[in-house]
Parts: sequence; C-alpha cells; structure tokens
Amino acid sequence: MKVSIIGAGYVGLVTGACFADLGWHVTCVDIDHEKIEGLRAGRMPIFEPGLEEVVNRNRQNGRLDFVTDMAPAVAQSDIVFLTVGTPPMEDGRADTSAVAAAAVELAPALAGYTVVAIKSTVPVGTGTYVRRLIAEANPTALFSIASNPEFLREGNAIRDFMEPDRIVIGCDEERAGDLLRALYNPLEQRNVPIVVTDCATSELIKYSANSFLAAKVAFINEMADLCDAIGANVDDLARAIGLDDRIGHSFLRPGPGYGGSCFPKDTLALAAQAQEADCPVRIVEAVVASNAHHVRRLVKKIERSCKQGWEEHGRDNTSFAGKTIAVLGLAFKSNTDDIRYAASLVILPQLAKHGVTIKAYDPAAMAKAGEVMTEVTYCDSIAGALDHADAVLVLTEWPEFLVLDWDDLKSRMASPVMIDFRNLFSPEEVGNRGVTYFSLGRPSGRARTDVEDNIARLADATVKHAGATS
Ligand SMILES: NC(=O)c1ccc[n+]([C@@H]2O[C@H](COP(=O)([O-])OP(=O)(O)OC[C@H]3O[C@@H](n4cnc5c(N)ncnc54)[C@H](O)[C@@H]3O)[C@@H](O)[C@H]2O)c1
Repeated sequence: MKVSIIGAGYVGLVTGACFADLGWHVTCVDIDHEKIEGLRAGRMPIFEPGLEEVVNRNRQNGRLDFVTDMAPAVAQSDIVFLTVGTPPMEDGRADTSAVAAAAVELAPALAGYTVVAIKSTVPVGTGTYVRRLIAEANPTALFSIASNPEFLREGNAIRDFMEPDRIVIGCDEERAGDLLRALYNPLEQRNVPIVVTDCATSELIKYSANSFLAAKVAFINEMADLCDAIGANVDDLARAIGLDDRIGHSFLRPGPGYGGSCFPKDTLALAAQAQEADCPVRIVEAVVASNAHHVRRLVKKIERSCKQGWEEHGRDNTSFAGKTIAVLGLAFKSNTDDIRYAASLVILPQLAKHGVTIKAYDPAAMAKAGEVMTEVTYCDSIAGALDHADAVLVLTEWPEFLVLDWDDLKSRMASPVMIDFRNLFSPEEVGNRGVTYFSLGRPSGRARTDVEDNIARLADATVKHAGATS
C-alpha cells in the first residue's frame, strides 16, 4: 500500500516514518523546502528520541521519501493523510485553513480510489467540509474522507505510535474503513484495539480525550495550590487518590500548568465549538480558566519564594528588580524541543518585566525559545545558568536536572534558593544540602506562619459551622 503524508511536522514525520517501518511505502510532503532538503540529507527538523534512527532506516530501505511536490505523491497513493497544523484563532476556534488549502491542492492530483484521512486535530464537521472542497475542486475524483486522530505524545512519539492504547478510525463509508484497517493491520495483529466510528464522533474523540487529560492536570494543580495554602502534601494526596483505579496515577503530577501544542488549543477549540453548538461545556471552560489562573499565580509565587529565600540567606530582599534568576528548562515538557504554549513563555517575560535578569538552559529547546524570547540570556550548560544567580527556577522535568551536583550549585550561586515547579526533588533532602527549596503543594512551599494562620481560620470556620448545625 502507498501512503502520502501532507505536512512533515511532529505528527506527520513520526507517523510517516512509522508507517514506513511497518512496511508501507510512504512519501512525506511539506511546503517547507528547507525542512525537506534537511530530511533528505538526514537532518531531523525536530528533537524526538529515536526518530532519526527510524527515518534513516527507512530512507535506506527505500520505503520513505521526502518531497515538496504534492501531485505525484498523491497520484500514486491509496491513502493520503493530512497532518498539517490547526493552531488556535483569537476566539479559540481551531484554524483549519491549512487543512483546507492542502485539500484543495491535492484534489486535482487524485487518481483512482483514494482515502483522504484527516490526522490533524480538527473540529467536528471538518471531514464534511474537506469532502465538499475536494469534490468542488475535482468533481470526477473517486475518494472517501476519513478521520484518524493521532494520540502520540512528543518525547515518546515513536513508542506511542507503535504501541498505542487505541487507534480511532472515523468514516462514513465502509470501503474507507476497510483500507485504513488494512493499513493498521500490523498493529491490530499486536492486539492494539481499533475503534471504528463515524467521522464526527472520531473528530470529537480527540478533543474530548485531550480535554479530559487537561482537566486532570488542572485539578491536581488546584490541589497543589490548596495544599500550599493549608500546609498539606500534594504528593501524598496524588498517590492516595491515584491508587483508586477509577482515578489512576497518570497526569496527577503538579506542574507549571499544561502547555504544548495540543492541550491549550484543543480545550479552547472544544469550548468554542460547543458554544457554537449551543451546548456549552462548562467543565472544559473552567479547565481553561483554571490553567491560566495557575500560571499567573506562579509568577507571584516566584516573587514570594525568592524574597523569603533571600531573607533566610541574609540577602537584600526588598526588590526583585536587579536580581538574576537561572531557569532550568524551557520546553513545555522533557524530551522535546517544542515550546508552544510552554509556561516559560508566560513566566519569563513577566519576570523580565519586573527587572529580573534571566539566564536559561534547556538541553533541546533553546534555539526555538531564542526566536521568541529575546530578553533571555541562553547558556550552554546548567553550570553556566547557575553562575552568580540569586535563585534557580525549574520549569521542565529533564532527566539531567535530576542529578544536580548540590555542592557545585551552592558554590556557583549568589544565594542557593530553588523554586521547583516540577517537584523533582525531596524538600527534606534539598533542605539538608543547605539549599532553600520551594516546590508545589509540599510543606516547604509557604511561610509556616501563613499556613498556620490559614489552618486556624479553617478551624474557626469549622467550629462556627458545627455550632450552627448542632
Ligand atoms: N504535536 C503533537 O504532539 C500532536 C499530537 C497529536 C495531534 N496533533 C495534531 O496534529 C496536527 C499537526 O501538528 P504538528 O505538531 O505536527 O504541526 P507542525 O506545525 O509541527 O507541522 C505541520 C507541518 O505542515 C506543513 N504544512 C502546512 N501546510 C502545508 C501544505 N499545504 N502542504 C504541505 N505541508 C504543509 C508545515 O510546513 C509543517 O511542517 C495538528 O492538528 C495537531 O493538533 C499534534
């Protein structure tokens, strides 16, 4: 079977390389000439563990090609995947103009029966829209539209593609479903469940899956904030609730808000489309608001923690301005160079506005961050970022941050104050090393007096309430 992939980005490149690895002949098409030239020369345009190996293996065995000319690739394909971007518009709706443009461009090249499968995350109705566009552009074309949303996660993309929890195929014609099922047969043979449904349901599945996961993240972040306020421990809380099978442990780690190219835009798009359908999804709307609120609170938390830490180390803590903060991690999560909607993009400009000098290090994302955050000094090592810093802020859970040399850190920093928004370390252990440590929702997070005041207020309220009901 021959396959074309239109859009060789994170999703298109990974899926194209993996389909080739499953034995199919794949041509990846992209309008970005530089990207295609680089890929033909063996240069990966993104950081994704294991990708280069799969690409090179399939380039060598002749099953994977990269081109900029769409027509010949489409003409010889049984299935054409659309994997172009669908970024959010100002009002939150997904911008499907790249999907539409690709559909109009591919239409004249369709030759023989072809399935056009939309892998981009798109609002309900996009399949119908694309069918109309292709039929208008090429009235004699013999084709079906299918929806085949992608669930891979950056940083783990190859494994997610090869060992997915499920594959979703949405189509309104049996013939298209059969062809896609045949394409995924090597994975179905490995007992990967396949959910076959109609196009609209398939489109909605992707948005609801991401919104549900985003809700889990927002929920645990709210619990972490509450734990901070009352001196409770979010690690114990997450472990205890996660042990309930109905809840599960995944996505119950507090952090600096969800980011990346999917959760922020997909929650917004679902909320916007539900409004349009006159059926608002209040939980998803609340998740969006909660996440934005959480990130804003973190900026205040940095300032409060720094001042407390500097006081402990006998430093001037009257002003945030003029201080230097080392930032470890810029990507929205580890193992990727993707900074789309990363917390760093919100937090660092805010710090800079307060007059803070920012020195940042990230193992993979500095080139991309440098394109959009010019107020940051980028360092080529952890040590370089820490040198003379008044505090260090951890924003991404890169494994190399887990093995920090604490003595080296103390000798480099002007004052050893760490604010860790990934809860990478044990507060006790870091405290014992002589570093003042703040994290999310764990007892070291707030000044003891604030916590005691809050608990006293809650106890008073409980007593009052008991009095009222007895
Ligand atoms: N990134 C993820 O982790 C992920 C996971 C699941 C689903 N998705 C969805 O997949 C889609 C693609 O996301 P991405 O992160 O891969 O985007 P991306 O921006 O990395 O890649 C899109 C690519 O499409 C190319 N392109 C745009 N118009 C084109 C055209 N007319 N012809 C050929 N190429 C064209 C661009 O040059 C770019 O290389 C989005 O809808 C996204 O929501 C992304």
